[in-house]
Amino acid sequence: MNVLGIETSCDETSVAIVRDGREILSNIISSQADLHALYGGVVPEIASRRHVEAINPSVEQALSQAGLGWDGLDAVAVTNRPGLVGALLVGVAAAKSIAFARNLPIVGVHHLEGHIFANTLAHPSLEMPFLCLIVSGGHTDIVVVRGYGKYERLGRTRDDASGEAFDKVARLLELPYPGGPNVQKLAETGNPSAFPFPRADLDGSLDFSFSGLKTAVLRLLQKEPDANRADVAASFQSAVVDVLVAKTIRAAEQTGLMTIAMGGGVASNGPLREAMKSAGDGLGIGVFWPPPVLCTDNAAMIASAGYHRLSTLGPDPLTIDTMATAVL
Ligand code: KG4
Ligand code: ZN
Repeated sequence: MNVLGIETSCDETSVAIVRDGREILSNIISSQADLHALYGGVVPEIASRRHVEAINPSVEQALSQAGLGWDGLDAVAVTNRPGLVGALLVGVAAAKSIAFARNLPIVGVHHLEGHIFANTLAHPSLEMPFLCLIVSGGHTDIVVVRGYGKYERLGRTRDDASGEAFDKVARLLELPYPGGPNVQKLAETGNPSAFPFPRADLDGSLDFSFSGLKTAVLRLLQKEPDANRADVAASFQSAVVDVLVAKTIRAAEQTGLMTIAMGGGVASNGPLREAMKSAGDGLGIGVFWPPPVLCTDNAAMIASAGYHRLSTLGPDPLTIDTMATAVL
């Protein structure tokens, strides 16, 4: 079954075709990052307009790269929640038009399901149940994935998401948007022990808080304007990684689950991957992550999650709506 996936929840227009939930035939990603870099973050109205321009060419490219015509498609999956409503609407309108014109089933996918199922897409042998750390620009969640549609959230951020913290600290360090990869790069030459930034434990809870950390970086830069930027980046990154690893490992110990998967843009962070892997190795816990292109927003993960949704829950009506917020 060939599923056409569409993702437009934020600042990437992406269209992919995935066979049977695991074989990527095409995965076109048109990033708007350069457009938003000017403003230091995503401007919703600009995002919607750019999606409108990019969606049709992206669908055509996805078909041609997969070597398929319209007849080669069996279903359409689209991110319809959560995200910027104006941005989501573009993808959902395109998906509905294709489904209606070609008489294909349509499924609305939760964006975070996409980030979770990027792992099974990348590692077909990965078996449920597993623990998933979702770390993106909008979310930082620890979720037990028991099966498709069977999720239990054990922890979430109480304020900023981890990716948001990377982006805000990048701004303080005068690094361009998107901040995460640039902070990681600058941190490579810095000393992670230079500044003892706070690691919020929240009384042993599996929830996260990154706003105090962001404020600590701000205060330091106000007090010591000449502080070594690479040392600040490395010390900040190390504080984020320490907390993400400690809480995810704690969740594994509490649930007895021996497999940890990671998804979302921050899961492409090298030091996070290394630290999670070495903590897991010490306890016999398997640690998985998708390649970077499947960590950040992409439609292949949506097509894959859509395939599983279609197989377990069946199609949605053509009247599906967009939602700015939605629980998993
Ligand atoms: O999953 P994603 O592409 O979009 C959302 O669903 O939000 O994640 C984007 C976030 C941004 O905050 C970006 O700075 C962060 O992921 N990110 C990283 C890295 N690559 C992307 N953060 C840390 N290290 C990275 N290498
Ligand atoms: Zn995302």
